[in-house]
Amino acid sequence: MSKGFVIAIDGPVAAGKGTISPLLAKNLNGFYLYTGAMYRCLALLCIKRGIDTKDENTVVNILPEFGINVFDNKVFLNGEDVTERIKREDVAMASSDVAVIKKVREEMVSIQQEIANKLMDEGKIVIAEGRDTATRVFPDAKLKIFLTATPEVRAKRRLLQIEERGEKAKFENVLKDVKLRDEQDLDRKIDPLVKNPEEFGYIVLDNSNMSEEETVDFILQKAEVLNDKN
Ligand code: DC
Repeated sequence: MSKGFVIAIDGPVAAGKGTISPLLAKNLNGFYLYTGAMYRCLALLCIKRGIDTKDENTVVNILPEFGINVFDNKVFLNGEDVTERIKREDVAMASSDVAVIKKVREEMVSIQQEIANKLMDEGKIVIAEGRDTATRVFPDAKLKIFLTATPEVRAKRRLLQIEERGEKAKFENVLKDVKLRDEQDLDRKIDPLVKNPEEFGYIVLDNSNMSEEETVDFILQKAEVLNDKN
């Protein structure tokens, strides 16, 4: 059995990574590794314990109590299915606080590598999605895609997701939030989202005017080329 490999899909908030990556995993019979879920789960644990996510020391101190499991596209925090809960906006905001903490990032990266290494030993393709999966977590990823779209398109997509959950929001506020989270991701000191993706070996894909299907097909074609080379 040949060893599996990683396809890394990074990019800014609401670029479609969370929709495209599971579709890719399904097509390639691979495993979808949603790295943002880890930061979101830690943020949720903080919310549950009433911990201020800006208080670095207290956040780091609860790391030993943090247990995450991911399977069947579901996310479990200390045994509890939190797949839907972590999609909410309070968790999203708190997750960008915990994501700037060095010790937190070290812990999450090592969990992500451990999960992927086990799967690759079993011959699986791992579709890793996040901000630093191609730069920090899996620098040897076989294919590195930087998925992006204009802030306006991303805000529209995010608004749709919010409305589908039965929540309400104004477009202007969602756009403001998207831009704020871009700043947080790009300006973070440790493992930021890169500003010059081509230099890090990414293929940049702006899918502002592409359908989900076209985006998936584009990436699958790149993955096929890669399989042919093996
Ligand atoms: O992709 P997302 O919105 O679910 O990510 C949640 C938060 O975690 C977001 O603030 C960015 C951060 N994150 C990160 O810093 N590194 C990753 N590999 C994935 C997510």
